[in-house]
Amino acid sequence: MTEFFVIAVDGPAASGKGTIATGLGRAFDLPVLDTGLLYRAVGVLTHRAGEDLDDEAAARAAALTLTADQLEDPALRTRAAGELASRVAIHGRVREALLEFQNTFAQQEGGAVLDGRDIGTVICPDAPAKLYVTATPEVRAHRRWKQLGGQGEEVAYEDVLADIRRRDARDGGRDAAPMKPAPDAVLLDTSEMTIEQAADAARRIVEAARARWESSR
Ligand code: DC
Repeated sequence: MTEFFVIAVDGPAASGKGTIATGLGRAFDLPVLDTGLLYRAVGVLTHRAGEDLDDEAAARAAALTLTADQLEDPALRTRAAGELASRVAIHGRVREALLEFQNTFAQQEGGAVLDGRDIGTVICPDAPAKLYVTATPEVRAHRRWKQLGGQGEEVAYEDVLADIRRRDARDGGRDAAPMKPAPDAVLLDTSEMTIEQAADAARRIVEAARARWESSR
């Protein structure tokens, strides 16, 4: 059994998992790691170094130079960075190079919230609380399109929807730690929910998991 109360939040792009993870961090007073930023940073660093994203050794070398302060770079939040991230994330040796950072974060005193694609399946398989957050591709594309517009990145909705579908296929279809719900994850479909409703539903699921975890210690 884990000594730390770890909350694993997985799901596809723009499912609302980032906002939900932030809300859970506040509600349970735990630090939050958006693990997508790690892959975004590796993608951007590999690209900036002029290397081929399909070159596993080059992407791994970039992953090994990564430091926490690089995760603050606003360039990581762009649409292009999401695509670069999804491409380097297929490499098993890149994923392996990012393990220690994620494990150290997860094993903090008290616990932590991690959001990503493989937290409940690979990074923290013993997490006492696991959520898999989904929504239809159309709803997710609409959310991401609005978010990008808010950041000043004007792009057609159809292009965002195509990005989402391509990333779902790549993230879910790869051999190394593919995106999928852990067998013991609670599925939360946010398609018909406002973000407040989704955050509330997530908090209730985690409260129940926390009560079970406490009573079994
Ligand atoms: O959550 P995000 O959109 O920022 O993630 C960007 C990409 O990074 C995503 O398409 C796949 C990859 N990723 C991953 O493979 N494993 C994770 N735990 C988090 C992200």
